[in-house]
Amino acid sequence: MSARGDEALVAEMRRAYAGAAWQWATGPAALYRRLATALVASAHVELQGRRVMDLGAGTGAASEALIEVGAEPVGVDLAVQMLAHRRTARPPGVAADAQRLPFREGAFAAVIAAFSLNHVPDLTGALAGCRRVLANGGGVLASTFPSDEEHPAKPVVEAVLEQYGYRRPGWYATFKDRLAGLTGDPASFARAASDAGLHDVRVERIEVEAGLDDPGLAVAWRLNMPHTLDFVASLAPARRSELRDRATAALAGRSPSAVTMLQLGATRP
Ligand SMILES: C[S@@+](CC[C@H](N)C(=O)[O-])C[C@H]1O[C@@H](n2cnc3c(N)ncnc32)[C@H](O)[C@@H]1O
Repeated sequence: MSARGDEALVAEMRRAYAGAAWQWATGPAALYRRLATALVASAHVELQGRRVMDLGAGTGAASEALIEVGAEPVGVDLAVQMLAHRRTARPPGVAADAQRLPFREGAFAAVIAAFSLNHVPDLTGALAGCRRVLANGGGVLASTFPSDEEHPAKPVVEAVLEQYGYRRPGWYATFKDRLAGLTGDPASFARAASDAGLHDVRVERIEVEAGLDDPGLAVAWRLNMPHTLDFVASLAPARRSELRDRATAALAGRSPSAVTMLQLGATRP
């Protein structure tokens, strides 16, 4: 895709997330908070008492996990509305694109990117930016979903949505087709980090107990995503409630508790 196409895609993702802050916080955030705890627990660099960037902070899942281990997070997100959610109860936040980080060289001991680098067209460029803002010996830790292993709640709920007329928005289709695989394939994710000048690169596949065997949690996750929530909101209340019930019923016995995620760890030499 051309540079202009990339910019248009990033602008669409900004708009989608900007309108999703409240729903994110009341739906998917419960799951992402558990995933962020697992990510932070696997950090290969010291975090306690250190300044750490929470890149693609959203409504603050990783910032909360970082505070729990004594780190001092700074939230960075493309969508200022995500950072504005519960702003007074959160660490400082800066609205910025991961591809153009507005910080001086060496400003952070670590960069934690929880499910955000998978949204970035110029993945190598963004990782090079992370390297630049890290102090020597600092680490990047980033999570994403593997392309070859999807939690069953995703296709099951999407199939129910389609029965109600849902079609993927264009930006989400492009995101899935073109961007998700850059980080979702361990070899490609690792290569981007090496090409960005990072060292000690490793990508691990880990399973996190996420409580998704509770269909309520799984449905709250899938129906409050930036690519589904506008469609769900467009339904009349009775249809919306019927959709929710059908999605919940469809998930019974088909939604394992655990989620598989990929974790990239790398260091600035
Ligand atoms: C899947 S959400 C994850 C939010 C949060 N890290 C969590 O785990 O709950 C992805 C976040 O990345 C942000 N994002 C997407 N593209 C970005 C970019 N190019 N630069 C910075 N943030 C970006 C979105 O606005 C959104 O808040």
